Amino acid sequence: MVATKPPKNQVDDRSGIKSPSKDTILTPRFYTTDFEEMANMDVSSNEEELQAIIAEFKEDYNRHHFVRNDQFDGAWDHIQGEKRKVFVEFLERSCTAEFSGFLLYKELARKLKGRNPILAEGFDLMSRDEARHAGFLNKAMSDFDLQLDLGFLTQSKDYTFFKPKFIFYATYLSEKIGYWRYITIFRHLEQNPEDTIYPIFNFFDNWCQDENRHGDFFAAMMKSQPQFLNDLKARLWCRFFLLAVFSTMYLNDIQRKAFYASLGLDAREYDIEVIKKTNASAGRLFPVVLDVENPKFFAELDECTKHTAAISEISNSGQNKVLQTLRKIPHITAIGSKLINLYFIKAIRTDGKAEMVR
Ligand SMILES: [Fe+2]
Ligand SMILES: [Fe+2]
Repeated sequence: MVATKPPKNQVDDRSGIKSPSKDTILTPRFYTTDFEEMANMDVSSNEEELQAIIAEFKEDYNRHHFVRNDQFDGAWDHIQGEKRKVFVEFLERSCTAEFSGFLLYKELARKLKGRNPILAEGFDLMSRDEARHAGFLNKAMSDFDLQLDLGFLTQSKDYTFFKPKFIFYATYLSEKIGYWRYITIFRHLEQNPEDTIYPIFNFFDNWCQDENRHGDFFAAMMKSQPQFLNDLKARLWCRFFLLAVFSTMYLNDIQRKAFYASLGLDAREYDIEVIKKTNASAGRLFPVVLDVENPKFFAELDECTKHTAAISEISNSGQNKVLQTLRKIPHITAIGSKLINLYFIKAIRTDGKAEMVR
């Protein structure tokens, strides 16, 4: 145990070591759960599918994929100014998100070992993949003379507790949305190679297949617990998590449209595409999906983005904190009420059958 843990968000003066960015409601989070409940979970009703996915994990298709090759030999001095700032931020946020997956899966594998061998093995193999993803992103940061201190991050971040059921909804969706985010960027750059400003995007095709398989593993775990998917409570929670994941991504990405523009992408169009695809994927598992074709859906989210922009303007104003908080309250309230409106847009019942998704 380190007795002198540095305060949160401290700026480290060791050259090239980047302290984690300041936490906000939209920062990637670290999770923990009820390991006892997870260990006692009986997954035998869907054991065959879980074993089939584990067998695929063991094939380890990406064993040799995350190897830095001579594509990375270039100098990245051409990425400068604001573009460099948003680019490094993208690498940092992605690395933090991947690392957060690694920590959760590794801890689950460790705690479930010998008690729930199927889940323990699945989590262990997924943590292998996430460690590779995080490590590859961290090496990319070193191309920009920065590196995330992952040990510090592990100790200094707050961990959000979710019951296993909520870990399943949230993590299933974040794996699937991760898949659609990576593949959408990859396909865009395949069509527009001149926009590939940095080689990491060339690795996104095989990379996103890992995320897709992880999502499938979570889907298989949830299918072994039909109570997570088949009643009114399940439908309400699925709607909640779909909206939470979609709106968080949308509000984040619109604030970072400069990054997407540097890849020749329009952040709004990109997000709409990713949300529609993820919603359709979720319809193959969840009993309900959101009506993202309803014109009110993105209109309300666009209203929220105006308020998040106003909030970040207040944060950067240099005013005293109390005044800042007071000025932020009406914007936070407005976002809250718009999210409630969005929650009550009539959902589409799918009962886990994707072909019913519009
Ligand atoms: Fe990953
Ligand atoms: Fe993953």
